[in-house]
Amino acid sequence: MASRVLYLLGCAAPPVLRIAEVVRSAQRAGWDVCLGLTPTAAHWLEEQLPELERQTGHPVRSRYKVPGHPDVWPPAAAAVVAPATFNTVNQWALGLTEKFVVGFAAEAIGKGIPLVTMPCVNAAYARHPQFAHSLETLSRAGVRVLYGAESFTPNPPGEGRPDTFPWECALTAVGEAVAAAAPGPRGAAPE
Ligand SMILES: Cc1cc2nc3c(=O)[nH]c(=O)nc-3n(C[C@H](O)[C@H](O)[C@H](O)COP(=O)(O)O)c2cc1C
Repeated sequence: MASRVLYLLGCAAPPVLRIAEVVRSAQRAGWDVCLGLTPTAAHWLEEQLPELERQTGHPVRSRYKVPGHPDVWPPAAAAVVAPATFNTVNQWALGLTEKFVVGFAAEAIGKGIPLVTMPCVNAAYARHPQFAHSLETLSRAGVRVLYGAESFTPNPPGEGRPDTFPWECALTAVGEAVAAAAPGPRGAAPE
């Protein structure tokens, strides 16, 4: 049976504060969820981390492992980077992998792991010239970028509505991405 391990990788934007509900939705959809957070997001969620580990059954990761230590997560079938901050989107596109979450996501492009990202930025960040370049770079690299009328649209600064962050778009898209990547009868390896 195909792996159903989903790496859910969250950044420090307000929708991450409700990540426990997203974990639950993904689990209901049949995913074995491993939760990764940027260091700032992990700081925001510090009090919830023990419960999130209990909920997922895996350590919540925000750091690279120590060399020689075993992997504490099973291999990913797919990953969702959301909410993706302006900072992390740009780091990912530029290949600046100081953070575990970005390091994983950057390497996953080269490994062909299905990837979905949904940014969460305000309209001022969105007008910065690097932002469009970064989304374009990630999209060309095969990342499914959920940004625009059908998914996330930026609000003016100070008018964000984290409760309406469309998480269901990300979960639907990652299911589609995995199905599209699965070898069909014609794509199966010869015996
Ligand atoms: C209350 C608050 C809300 C924020 N909301 C956002 C946001 O919606 N999008 C964003 O890109 N950055 C937002 N930021 C800024 C990021 O948290 C900041 O750039 C941080 O360094 C991002 O780190 P990360 O990308 O490693 O998670 C917010 C910061 C604070 C304090």
